Amino acid sequence: MERLELPRELLTGVKDIDTHHTELYAWADRIVRSEADEQDLKQAIVFLSGYVNYHFAAEESAMITHGFKDYEKHRKQHRAFIRLVHRFRETAMAEGINDNVREMLKKAFRVWFTNHIGLLDRKFAEFLKSKGITHHQVLPNRGELESSGALDEYDQVEIKGPYDGEVTLDELKIRLKAKM
Ligand SMILES: [Fe+2]
Ligand SMILES: [Fe+2]
Repeated sequence: MERLELPRELLTGVKDIDTHHTELYAWADRIVRSEADEQDLKQAIVFLSGYVNYHFAAEESAMITHGFKDYEKHRKQHRAFIRLVHRFRETAMAEGINDNVREMLKKAFRVWFTNHIGLLDRKFAEFLKSKGITHHQVLPNRGELESSGALDEYDQVEIKGPYDGEVTLDELKIRLKAKM
């Protein structure tokens, strides 16, 4: 089975952002390929879902800190992906890890997340680089966000709310050769 990994052309040059993206793909890959017992996998899924929330909260926090003006559009896409991951998590908990669940996760990363990084994260990274910001610690660490309560709202994104993932995808101009 082909690995799920961050395509090299999606490295942004901002170290923190690239590290998060690489890690997120690695976790998704671990879940898709794992033959560990169900309980371990479910814990990995909960972890991945929490990491997605953290990553988005961290990016959004950095956007506010540095005055990035496309913040609202970016945030809207993050909400759509959180809904997608929540749905994946609920399905995995209900059905166990089967082929359907693996396909959901592969598609979420190879299509949705890939497009999001290629278009919107890249724009944010270019903005940061134009201001000379490429050092690590551009993104706040998890502890900071947790203690400020900034992560709470991400856990509460309504899973049954409008799912605009497909619409968002249609809006995107970039189509990488995603094998699904
Ligand atoms: Fe990102
Ligand atoms: Fe993003």
